[in-house]
Formats: sequence, C-alpha cells, structure tokens
Amino acid sequence: MGIRVAPRMRGVAESGTVRMGNLERELRARGVQVISFALGEPDFDTPAHIKEAAAEALRSGFTHYTASRGIPELRAAIAEKSARENGIPCTPDEVLVTPAKLGIYEAMMAFVGEGDEVIVPDPGWVSYGPMVGLAGGRPVNVRLREEDDFRMTPELVAMAVSPRTRMIIVNSPSNPTGTVMTGADFRGIADIARDRDLLVLSDEIYEKLVYDGRHISIASLDGMQERTITSSGFSKSYAMTGWRVGWLVAPKALMGPIDTIQQHSLTCCTSFAQKGALAALKGPQDCVTRMFEEFRRRRDYIVGRLNSSGLFECRRPSGAFYAFPRYHLKRPSLELAERLLSEAHVGLTPGSAFGAGGEGYLRISYANSMENLGKGMDAIEQAMGRF
Ligand SMILES: Cc1ncc(COP(=O)(O)O)c(C=O)c1O
Repeated sequence: MGIRVAPRMRGVAESGTVRMGNLERELRARGVQVISFALGEPDFDTPAHIKEAAAEALRSGFTHYTASRGIPELRAAIAEKSARENGIPCTPDEVLVTPAKLGIYEAMMAFVGEGDEVIVPDPGWVSYGPMVGLAGGRPVNVRLREEDDFRMTPELVAMAVSPRTRMIIVNSPSNPTGTVMTGADFRGIADIARDRDLLVLSDEIYEKLVYDGRHISIASLDGMQERTITSSGFSKSYAMTGWRVGWLVAPKALMGPIDTIQQHSLTCCTSFAQKGALAALKGPQDCVTRMFEEFRRRRDYIVGRLNSSGLFECRRPSGAFYAFPRYHLKRPSLELAERLLSEAHVGLTPGSAFGAGGEGYLRISYANSMENLGKGMDAIEQAMGRF
C-alpha cells in the first residue's frame, strides 16, 4: 500500500499549453522580455459595466453560496440567449452555470464510463483526451486534414465510430485551428448521432468569434436537442477568462446527473461572478463587437505576414483567435516552439500539443496588440531564417 498516484492518472500528461506557459514565466522571471502568442485568452480588459456589477454584488454582501445550477436570473438570461441566438429553445431548468471547462468535465464524468469511446478532433483542444481518460473512457482521435480546412467532416467521424462509441465532441469555432464547421458537416454528424443513438458534446466557447460564415449550434438541428450537451461561456467573448463562469445547456434528463456532480464538487459558481456574467448578457453588446472587429483586423494581418514570410503556409481561419500555420522546416513542433521562445523570445504553442495531427504546425494566438504581432513576427522571421 502506501502513497501512490491513482491508476486513472496513467497516461494523463501535463498539458502542452501549460508547459510552454511555465517556460515563458521562467524566462520573464529572469528579466527577459517575451512576446506571447501562446495565450488562449483575450488581451482586453473585462468591460467596465461587467466589473461594476460584480463589485456592486460584493459591496451589497452577495457573497454566499448560490443554487448549484446558478442564480435564477442568470439561468433565465442564458436560456433566453440560447433560444434567440443558437436556436435551442430551453427553460432555465435546462441550464447549468459552471466554468466552461468544468462543465465539459462534469458532462464526461456523468456520461462516459469504463471503456466507452469518445470521438475527439485531432488536432483539438488539449483537454478533451485527458478528460475522457479521467472519466475511464478512451478518446478516439479523428485526424483532421488541412485540405478539408481542418473541419470534422461526417466521413471522418463515420470512420471512427464503433459499437463502443458513446459521445462525439464537436468544437466550432475550433481551438487550435480557428476552423468554423459548415451546416453540411453538422447535418452529417447529426445523422450519425441519431442513427447510432450517441450523445454529442458541442463546445461553442468561441461562438461569438466567427468572421466568415455563421455559427451553428448542432443542438438546433432536428432531433438533436435531446442528445446534445452544449457548452459555452463568457471567457472568450467578454474577456472574462479569470472569472470562471460559463454554462451548459442540456435537456432535463441529461442535466440531472451533471448537476449531481456539480453539487458534490464545485457546489456552485462564484456568487458575485455570476452577477457580473448577468450584466455581460443583459448589458450593451458593443464591447463584444469592438473586440470582434479588432480580432478580425489582427487575423488578417497575421495571416498575411505568415504567408508572405516564405516560412509558413497558413489558411485563413474563420473563427476564434488562433492561426495554425504549417512550417516548412523539418523539425518537431515542440523543439521549434522551445527554440523560438529561448532565441526569439516569442512564446507560441507547438501543434503537437493538440494531438499527433498538429505535428508540423504551430498555434499562434493573435490575442495580442498589433504592435506586438508585428514585433513578434519580425523576431520569428529572423530566428527561423537562422535555424
Ligand atoms: C476549445 C475550448 N473549450 C473550452 C475552454 C475552456 O474555457 P473556460 O476557460 O471558459 O473554462 C477553452 C479555453 O481555452 C477552449 O479553448
């Protein structure tokens, strides 16, 4: 006996994004000026009216537990938004207020069991695979192709489905590729999910950052709401990553087990942060539009710079705030990212952090000022010219 790490931790590796973040912090602590293209968060401050609503909640003593599913007025506002913007008509009882990341984890813990297979995009967000593993399941990677614009096509999903499949994860707009999936993609995946009686977890955290095309929620398609758990939140659209507030929308039958996990883990989201989140939904939306416009401007700039450098090939991502260029050098992406950090002092994320399908690519988060984007690209070009 004695102290040992639980067997479920086997094979769950440190997150590649966290590793690069730590290296970046170490360099900064030594006094080096680092330009970061690694962060998965808006560089903007949370809009003032949102901060004021939370501050007012604090001042007025709104500092205690709330209902596990969240304060009623926020759940009502999320339900109303889901119906209006996402085509998912739902009641407040079908909404759980929870940090987006935790909500996804709770959904896996509730519905993925030993040996169950979950279909995940590759390259895809770093936490899907480990979360499936922690729940006892097995992630089945769908290798996305650059020639398909990294869309998770129904054909690729059909090839990955087996009798053990329980859940399909879709993420549009995507981290790390910025890809926005099409209506045909979603209709084809919905057909597979209905035919095989599968759950779909739709991660829509970047839903407000779609520059070309439009955002589609798979739960809005015929017969899909009953089998879809939709995850989204405030982090990326309202520059509220540190607030740890987001939500899940799911039919009552699915929400019950998820809420039970929330009751025995988080209890509830931070009370005053929920008041700030309510102000985000109810208040003026011009802050969202301003950030959106600025991100689009930066996307166009960074994609132009990458493609004119002669060092990279980069599709124009339609959403989120990531570019995912392929580089021409024959080096592993981790080695390249580490060298760019130590020699050019630019932090970015190796594509391999997002799965084997990300090897040969780098993820550049353009949630940084135009000035820094320019300086960072200059430094990358100079350094890579030497490598
Ligand atoms: C694809 C994706 N899903 C979920 C999350 C989690 O969001 P939050 O920080 O709001 O929990 C992130 C954050 O980086 C993400 O990129």
